[in-house]
Amino acid sequence: MSEIITRPRGTQDFLPDKAELLHFVNESAVSFFEKYGFRAIVTPTFEKEELFKRSIGESTDIVQKEMYEFKDKAGRKLALRPEGTASVVRAYIENNMAAMPRPVKLFYTGQMFRYERPQAGRYREFWQMGAEAIGSAEPALDAEVIELCFSYLSSLGIKDLILKINSMGCRECRPDYIKELRQFLRGKEGQFCKTCAQRIDLNPLRVFDCKNENCSKALAEAPKIADYICEEDKEHFKKVRSYLDLVGITYELDPHLVRGFDYYTRTTFEVLLPGLGSQNALAGGGRYDYLVADYGGPKEPAIGFAFGTERIILALEVQKITVFTKPEPDVFVAWVEEAQKLPAFKALSILRDKHLKAGMAYDAKNLKAQLKMADKLQARTALIIGEEEVQTGKCTLKYLESGKQKKLSLEEIIKELKLSSYHN
Ligand code: HAM
Repeated sequence: MSEIITRPRGTQDFLPDKAELLHFVNESAVSFFEKYGFRAIVTPTFEKEELFKRSIGESTDIVQKEMYEFKDKAGRKLALRPEGTASVVRAYIENNMAAMPRPVKLFYTGQMFRYERPQAGRYREFWQMGAEAIGSAEPALDAEVIELCFSYLSSLGIKDLILKINSMGCRECRPDYIKELRQFLRGKEGQFCKTCAQRIDLNPLRVFDCKNENCSKALAEAPKIADYICEEDKEHFKKVRSYLDLVGITYELDPHLVRGFDYYTRTTFEVLLPGLGSQNALAGGGRYDYLVADYGGPKEPAIGFAFGTERIILALEVQKITVFTKPEPDVFVAWVEEAQKLPAFKALSILRDKHLKAGMAYDAKNLKAQLKMADKLQARTALIIGEEEVQTGKCTLKYLESGKQKKLSLEEIIKELKLSSYHN
C-alpha cells in the first residue's frame, strides 16, 4: 500500500461544516466593508520579495523569520504574501488609483502565509479579511475604521472583546522616543533575549514584539511613546478618541501597542478576546502615513486593519455562538423503479432550474434506502415518482417530518415548495 500524504504543517483542511462557516464569515464581513464604502480588491498571493522587506521592515520577525521566500524558474526572488497591506499599496500606486475620489477605500479577503510555530489560532497559512483607506489623515477616518472593525466582531455576537489603541507618533517625533527607549534598553541589556539584545541597536521598537516572558517583564517600566509624541499627533489621537466616544466604542489605552510592522505611524489598534489563549488578537491595524510615498507613490496618508478569520471562527466556537446553519435541501427526488430514474432526473433538473435545493440518490437500491438518505440529509420533503406518477403527471410530495403527503403536478409542487421555503 502506498504511503498517505498528509497536509503541510501549519495548514488546515476546512471540511464542509467549517468551510461553509468560513464562507459565511467572509461574506458577512464583505457586507460590512461595503456598508462602510469599501470596494473589493484582489492582489496576487505572491509578490516580489523586496515589496515586503521594504514595507514590513528588515528587522521584523515577519521578514527575518517568517516569510515563505522562493525563486521562480527564471531566478526571480518572490515571496508568498505574509499580509495584505503591502500588496494593496503596491496596486494603488501601480494602477494610479490616486486618481479616484479620496480616501480610496479597499477591502480584501484571502490567504496569507507566515512560517510561524503552529498552535491553536496560529497557522502557517491563514485567512485575513482586511480593509485599507488611502488618502486621508483625518482622525474621523481612524475612528470609522476602528468602528467598522469592532462593530463587525460585535455583530457576530462575540462578547468580552477588548479594543486597545495607541498612538505611535510620526517620523518627526518618533526619533526622540527611540533615543529614550534605546537608553532604557541598554540599561537592562542583560535581561533581554539574544534577539532583543540585537534589536536595541537595530530597531528598538521591535523589542515590544517579543513573546519572551523575561523581555516583557524588563519592558514593564519602558518609556511610553505617548509621552514623546508631538502636539499635532497628540491632537490627532485626542480627536480619534473623541470620535470613538461619540459612537460609544469603548477602548483601553495601551502605550506599548507598537505592532509587528515598521510601517505604522500614529494610531495603532488591536481587538483582543482574552478567553482565546495566547493567540487572542482577532484583528489589528493602524495608520501608515508614509508607506505610499516610501514605495514611490504620492504622499498619501492611510489607515487599515485586518481580521484573522480563523481566530474569529475559534471565538465563535469557544463562545458557542451559532451564526450560520446550513439550509436543508427543499426536496429529495426519489424513484420507485429503475424505469422512473429518467423522469426523476428530469424533475430534479427542473426543480434546480427554479432555484430549489434538490437532491437525488443515483446509487440507491430501493425507495426505502432513498427515503433514509433524504432523512439523513434533513431534506424537508421527498418527491416520489413511480409508474403511476409518470402516467398521471401527478407526483407524490411527502413532508418528511410530519409524514403528510399529497399528489400534485410538478408545477404545483414548485409553487408550494417556493412558498414554504420563503416562509421558513
Ligand atoms: P496582523 O496583526 O499581523 O496585521 O494580522 C491581522 C490579524 O491576522 C491578527 O490580528 C490575527 O487575528 C491574524 N493572524 C496573524 N497571524 C496569524 C497566523 N499565523 N495564524 C492565524 N491568524 C493570524 C496585519 O497583517 C496588517 N497587514 C493589518 C493592517 C492592515 N494594518 C494596516 N492595514
